[in-house]
Amino acid sequence: MAPEKPVVAVTCTAPVNIAVIKYWGKRDEDLVLPINSSLSVTLHQDQLKTTTTAAISKDFTEDRIWLNGREEDVEQPRLQACLREIRRLARKRRSAGDEDPAALGLSYKVHVASVNNFPTAAGLASSAAGYACLAYTLAQVYGVESDLSEVARRGSGSACRSLYGGFVEWQMGERADGKDSIARQVAPESHWPELRVLILVVSAEKKLTGSTAGMRTSVETSPLLRFRAESVVPARMAEMARCVRERDFPGFAQLTMKDSNQFHATCLDTFPPISYLSDTSRRVVHLVHRFNAHHGQTKVAYTFDAGPNAVVFALHDTVPEFVAAVRHCFPPESNGDKFLKGLPVPPVPLSDELKAVLDVDPTPGGVKYIIATQVGPGPQILEDPHAHLLGPDGLPKPA
Ligand code: DP6
Repeated sequence: MAPEKPVVAVTCTAPVNIAVIKYWGKRDEDLVLPINSSLSVTLHQDQLKTTTTAAISKDFTEDRIWLNGREEDVEQPRLQACLREIRRLARKRRSAGDEDPAALGLSYKVHVASVNNFPTAAGLASSAAGYACLAYTLAQVYGVESDLSEVARRGSGSACRSLYGGFVEWQMGERADGKDSIARQVAPESHWPELRVLILVVSAEKKLTGSTAGMRTSVETSPLLRFRAESVVPARMAEMARCVRERDFPGFAQLTMKDSNQFHATCLDTFPPISYLSDTSRRVVHLVHRFNAHHGQTKVAYTFDAGPNAVVFALHDTVPEFVAAVRHCFPPESNGDKFLKGLPVPPVPLSDELKAVLDVDPTPGGVKYIIATQVGPGPQILEDPHAHLLGPDGLPKPA
């Protein structure tokens, strides 16, 4: 028999996702069950990803976690729910199968280290990628092969959609125990190769109202949210899936904007009201509609989550002109050369006609920078042992 390895470590990466039919509101806070289904686009990990190493060893005396190099409280309820859930699935598998119980290391404590390749300060939702990565990495460590929706969802609802690449729906389910509240791929990342995603980073400020607290107040007070969940979203889910399947960009774009707008309307209908958009966000909305009007067709769409950053969808041949329009409306302040990150976008001149249609007083620095990306794959396992964020002693490697 081979000698027992002191530390078993696995490292994985997981993507960020952006919803085009929004999740807002829970029917069960503890199990993280939503009041409506949602649909998202998985963003490419070349630009945005979380990397997580999980390690187990009989020598570890307690569960521990480090996020972006800093040790965090492992007792956090959501983290505990994920750990409990993955260990439950591992135990279930063990009792059903032939695996040697000791090999599964179920009695061992776990160390977890996680880093993002994008600044948390950019205000981009990192919890979806973070909890999806945690669920996926722990599943490798414990040999769990079943659906991980529940593990990721208990961390953050939107995280279950980051378990897959391409276009993903989170079916709300009906059961009280949440067993049918799961994420499913609608189409793989290869399905729509021309689709591009631009993240317009507007502000690095910390938001006033977090999603969890915000959606709780909305569920309690907004009649519009109830109407949306019951009477609007079911048809929109079907229509959005059709737009994706048929690669109908104008249909996809219009529904994406309408659903973002309705989500923000339910926030305003919440009492006390919640507002996530800033003046710059509203300027981006205006810019997109003017740009589309100039072309006489819907070539660009915006969507906003619980913050002021805009996420913009366009087909690749529209991107250079739209980026030039953004530069025109929001002239970069100091970092002109670093204004555009991610996929290369060739510079193009802006026509006088389009400038006239945009009709704006430029807001210097309104958009801090743009990250250009595309649709990407789901979580990945990194086979290279150098990728581990934890050393052989189970502690974070020095950065
Ligand atoms: C506006 O998944 O962050 O981004 O389940 O409470 O952790 P919790 O909320 P979270 O909410 C995301 C809300 C949203 C819309 C979406 O991603 O669907």
